[in-house]
Amino acid sequence: MAVLNNYSLLEHNTFGIDVRASRFMEYDSESELMTFLVHEELQVPFLHIGRGSNLLFTKDYEGTVLHSCIRGVEILEEDDKRVRVRVGAGTLWDDFVACCVVRGWYGAENLSLIPGEVGASAVQNIGAYGVEVKDLIEAVETVDIHGKKRIYANAECKYAYRDSIFKRPDMKSVFVTRVRFSLSKKPCYRLDYGAIHAELEKYPALDLQTIRRVIIKIRQAKLPDPKVLGNAGSFFKNPVVPRGRFEELLRQYPGMPFYEVGTDFVKIPAGWLIEQCGWKGKAFGRASVHLRQALVLVNLGGAQGHEIVALANAVASSVYDRFHIRIYPEVNIV
Ligand code: EPU
Repeated sequence: MAVLNNYSLLEHNTFGIDVRASRFMEYDSESELMTFLVHEELQVPFLHIGRGSNLLFTKDYEGTVLHSCIRGVEILEEDDKRVRVRVGAGTLWDDFVACCVVRGWYGAENLSLIPGEVGASAVQNIGAYGVEVKDLIEAVETVDIHGKKRIYANAECKYAYRDSIFKRPDMKSVFVTRVRFSLSKKPCYRLDYGAIHAELEKYPALDLQTIRRVIIKIRQAKLPDPKVLGNAGSFFKNPVVPRGRFEELLRQYPGMPFYEVGTDFVKIPAGWLIEQCGWKGKAFGRASVHLRQALVLVNLGGAQGHEIVALANAVASSVYDRFHIRIYPEVNIV
């Protein structure tokens, strides 16, 4: 266990914002976390982070930042059809996907190259190319601020689009320590996403490695590498609008992309709305809307959190002015 004072968070947020935490605590096991919580008494405010790939710091954090280094993939049970595994919250998400692909476990491949860690994946319900992590999660192991363990079954996690019970304000004192996944050992692919289909046709065989390679290629073509250009992936959630409003819009913009959400609602890509407002590639000081994917805001170098927030507010206002649709950040602003 390491407890550090006045600690720089620069390496702990993919936006590359240089802020400090009064106290930073990293632990390797549940027992270390529980010892810390019971003996040291966590003072408010506190914030548990993963890899910081969905976070935007706007100022120094005057409190304790916690980070899990519980790592590794443990097999709980397997037969010839399925495998159940338990994965440490501090494991890099993409290392886990790579492990699944090598071992021939199906389900996580569409989520290749999503930044962040396994613990945060279960909080945020990460998703891409027709798959959400909730489809693979069996249960989530936690420790609360009083050092008490509890396992939440998938249904108790109240999963929705980029949402779970763990995002509720009253659940901020519940820390994910491990996530249990159930994966198939028989081929079952989700290839309904257009771009994947088109790219896969260039490859002779359909297997896990090929799908992972294709997803990585598609993501790398659109999404900036945070090591080169600070960013937190999609900055906004895609808005869900009532069908009536969607039909009006579609008459006006017949080329508008959309995804059906049940019978009454339709999801519209925020990236498309932002691009229509002319923001693609536009800079606002040291913050900019990414040139290849308008849903991504980037730090051009040395930007402070409030500059990115100012850009985000300007983008959201112009989307509202033009389309009367409100878009909300997916990124957690601290
Ligand atoms: N589009 C534009 N202009 C843009 C960006 C997108 O017109 O600048 C259009 C695209 O042409 C396409 C549609 O919008 O028709 C959707 O674009 P894309 O496939 O890039 O996906 P997205 O809806 O922008 C979501 C997730 C991504 C995930 C992709 C692929 C959210 C908030 N984002 O983005 O997740 O990788 O789908 O499934 O749901 C993330 O959450 O950080 C993330 C990267």
